[in-house]
Amino acid sequence: MSLIDIAREVRENAHAPYSNFKVGAAVRTASGAVYRGCNVENVAYPEGTCAEAGAIAAMVASGETEIAEIAVIADSPKPVSPCGGCRQKIAEFAKGDVKVTLATTDGAIQETTIATLLPGSFDADYMSRT
Ligand code: THU
Repeated sequence: MSLIDIAREVRENAHAPYSNFKVGAAVRTASGAVYRGCNVENVAYPEGTCAEAGAIAAMVASGETEIAEIAVIADSPKPVSPCGGCRQKIAEFAKGDVKVTLATTDGAIQETTIATLLPGSFDADYMSRT
């Protein structure tokens, strides 16, 4: 199954009763393993979490830290774009050239990279004097 199809499948489990906007994400790591996530909203709205964050948490909980590829899907008019916070979360575990596939449930696909999505990102180099 493709990474997008895995993200499409896990999207069905999203808990999004407040936005009604379900998102699925799937991360493939250097080892070849795949981790899934969906958005999980909360009645206290700021406590909700994004699909990408869920997939990354599952990856780290399994002892992996190197994203090789990531895919995100939603029922949107154009391929869903990860929020700023999720771009930073992906960048923590992905080299700049890592492929990010953005998709809609009706089949539109956009391929990009994390460096394109998050130019000028804050990284550990800025902390080299600490
Ligand atoms: N959302 C994600 O899960 N990932 C994204 O990349 C964009 C937004 C979620 C957060 C919230 O549950 C809903 O979509 C509407 O913003």
